[in-house]
Formats: sequence, structure tokens, C-alpha cells
Amino acid sequence: MFKSPRLWFSTTALLTTLALAACSSVPALFVAAAPAGEIESVYTVQAEGQRAIVRALTRSASCPDIAWDAHPAQAMSVRAAPGAMAVRSVGAQVDKKEALFDVLTCEATWPAGVLKARVAGREVPAPKADIRRIVIIADTGCRMKASENAFQLCNDVEQWPFAKIAQSAAALKPDLVIHIGDMHYRESPCPQGEAGCVGSPWGYGYDAWKADFFNPARPLLTAAPWVFVRGNHESCARAGQGWFRFMDRQPWSEARSCNDPKFDQDADYSDPYSVAIGPDTQFVVFDSSKTSGKPFSFKDHAYGKYKTQMLAVDQLTALKPHSFFMSHHPLLAFAPAAKSKPARPGGNAGLQSVFETLHPKRLFPDNVNVTLHGHIHFFEAISFKTAHPATLVLGNSGSANEGKIPLSLPPDMQPYPGAVVEDYAARSDYGFATLDRIGPEASARWLLTEYNIAGGAVLRCNILGSKSKCERVAD
Ligand SMILES: [Fe+2]
Repeated sequence: MFKSPRLWFSTTALLTTLALAACSSVPALFVAAAPAGEIESVYTVQAEGQRAIVRALTRSASCPDIAWDAHPAQAMSVRAAPGAMAVRSVGAQVDKKEALFDVLTCEATWPAGVLKARVAGREVPAPKADIRRIVIIADTGCRMKASENAFQLCNDVEQWPFAKIAQSAAALKPDLVIHIGDMHYRESPCPQGEAGCVGSPWGYGYDAWKADFFNPARPLLTAAPWVFVRGNHESCARAGQGWFRFMDRQPWSEARSCNDPKFDQDADYSDPYSVAIGPDTQFVVFDSSKTSGKPFSFKDHAYGKYKTQMLAVDQLTALKPHSFFMSHHPLLAFAPAAKSKPARPGGNAGLQSVFETLHPKRLFPDNVNVTLHGHIHFFEAISFKTAHPATLVLGNSGSANEGKIPLSLPPDMQPYPGAVVEDYAARSDYGFATLDRIGPEASARWLLTEYNIAGGAVLRCNILGSKSKCERVAD
């Protein structure tokens, strides 16, 4: 049963400050700004179009100041107050505890024409007009999951390498970072005697978010604005509360907070949006967090929701000649097969059952050249003889992988009926990718590079329109 959140800082001063900060008519001068030392994290969320939002997490009772270019500093607004959220009645794991968020989430929308911003003296990643290099990561957290008896060695940076990956990726100086979902994995307590994860926080509160995401991601969070794509780990019954406090681009509200299960029917879904990468190109972001591995019936609530979302994608993709479609779950991918079989189709049957009703031939609108995903903890790049968009799976950025993905496919294996593979490259080890624009925008030419943990290039894939061709450049 849902209970009202308990305020963590239940002082009159906090409530007064929050009320003042939320009121735009109050001059910033009168709001006591958060001291720099209490700020946990500052980052930029890239939202729809060219809209960007600066977020700051602080242990202070008030939001920090933000200074745009040379203008006088003003207080950021409160997005979500600290609080201890009651245990969700239905969750993915047996072990449960309240989700304690002992940080204040603050935000400010980046004004048009502003080039620089500072929060409490720290420079904030600024949105770039000309985006040429994009870092892509997915599935980054350290798996602690009692229901599968899966406990990754979170204390060993070789066994859970997200911190190293973030460092290597930041060194490549991206203009934009995209995380294609599943940021939070520490759902169950580390078992007694497990030295690899001893002392790790767990559950859905800020301490687990900090250990799993904000601490290791720091070099990348300070390198460029981020596009966040929601994964199944960020669905409402799992880490959805943190998703809405920290990552979601829309305003925070009780109805879109995952605090009360009565709102899940909407809060588990989001309107798609597109991020402009230039006059001709855009990234379309799709929330697939609540999909199923089984086909939906047209009577299912999820079927209606995803159909509505996909109709919105149709409208978005009609606006520009070139679109990259991003959902956490892939539709045209392969997964490692159990035992004797070398690979198996690994696309999400729930999404396929919806998308095929609108786009029976290729599952996606014509202007979608390339699709990007996570969820499967490997690297895959697949190009088709048929009209299907090139598919990239980039789910190898830290969370434990699940065996080995075959380096080649049996003849005629198709990830979806009628999708004939022309080029296939795969990699099982941990890593990350960059997408570099090569040539003029209208040419739709991109270079995808897959890197190892240390930032060494392993694979290069030339992308032209909806075709990709990969070559291995190192082991
Ligand atoms: Fe996933």
C-alpha cells in the first residue's frame, strides 16, 4: 500500500526554502544557495529538439545557484524533494526496503543563446550546435540479483568496469553521450561471505544509484550532455523512482514518480521524442521499459500504449530525412543460444508484435536508418540485404555479460522473418562505442567504433544510410 513520502529533511527551514525556490518571482538573492561541498552531482540532460536541462543533486536543504554566461547567478528550481519512499508491493526481488532519497534534485532549463553555465562555480557541460562525436553506452550497473543468484564483483574494477569505461569514453571528448538503458542493477543485498560485493548498498534509493551510476559515471557526466533512454531496470516496480528523479526529461510529478502503483499504467510508458543532431538528422527516443518477451494481444494495456507511442514515432520521423531509433530492447538482434545452438533470434517479441502491425515490411518507418539498443549484454552490428534498418546492440558497458555471442551466424539465420542479414559483427567483451559523423550531413555517413575498456578501437563499422559494414581492427 502506498504511503505518503516521509521528508528526510523535515525542518521548517527546508520547507520554507523549497517553497521559495519553487517560486520564480522570488529573487535568487534571497534563496540560500547550496554550498559547493554539498553538491553530489551536476549534469546536463539533453531533451527533445534542442532543449537541455541542467540537473544538480545536493545534500543541502536548498538548490545551488546557476550562472548563465556572464549573467548574475540565480537559484535552480526544486525538481524532487528528498524523501523515503515506501516499499513497492510488487517488485522484481524478494528483499525489499524503503527507497531513501537523501538528496534534493534541482534543475534549470538551458536558455536559448546561452553558451556557458556554472553551478556553484563548476562549469556545466554545454549543449553543442554541431554534434559530430557521440559516445554510446548501455547496461552499465553492477548486477546484484538474488532471484537469479547473480552477484557481480562490484568491488573489482576489472569485473565491473563501468568506471574505467566512463574514463576512457570521456577521454574521447564526445559532444553528446547516450545511455540506452539499465543504469541500476543493485537490487538485492550482497550475500554474507561474498567479498566481491561486500559493503555495497542495495535497493532503489540514492545510495545504490550513487554507487551504481553517479560515482562511476562522473567523468562522462562532466564531459557532455546526456540522452537517457529508459531500460527495464528503470520500470516503476524496479528503479523507476530514481529514473524520474534523476533522468526523465519531463517535469517530475507524483503521477510520474513511480511512488504510487496506481499510476504505473501511465508512468511505465513515455511519449517518444526526438533530439536534433543537425538539420537533417535526429535521434528518436522510445521508452520500452515495460515490454514483454512474449507477443502482446491487441487487448493488452501495453499493446495500446506501445501502438500510440509508435504512431508518435511515425510523426516524428516524417520531419527529417534521417532518424536513428533508440529503445532499450532490440527488435532485429541475436542472442547467444543455450547449449548446442550457436545463436538465436533475440529481438523483443512484445515490441515486434506491435511494430509489425504498423510497419509489416521493416518494422520501422522508412526514414529510420539505424536502430540502437542495449539489453543484450554484447556488441552486435547487423546490416540487412532487405530494407530493414541497420541494428546496433551496445549492451556491454559494465553489467555482467551472459556467456559468449557467436562471431558468425549460421547461413540463413534471420532475427525476424524476412530480415536477411548481409553483414554481422559481434563482440562479447566489455566496451563502449562512438558514433562519428563523417562527411556532410546530407550524406548520412557515420563511423561507429567499438572500443575495449581501455579505449582501444576493436571494430569499425561504416554506416551509410541504412547499411553498415564492419571490420575488426584489433582483438
Ligand atoms: Fe535490460
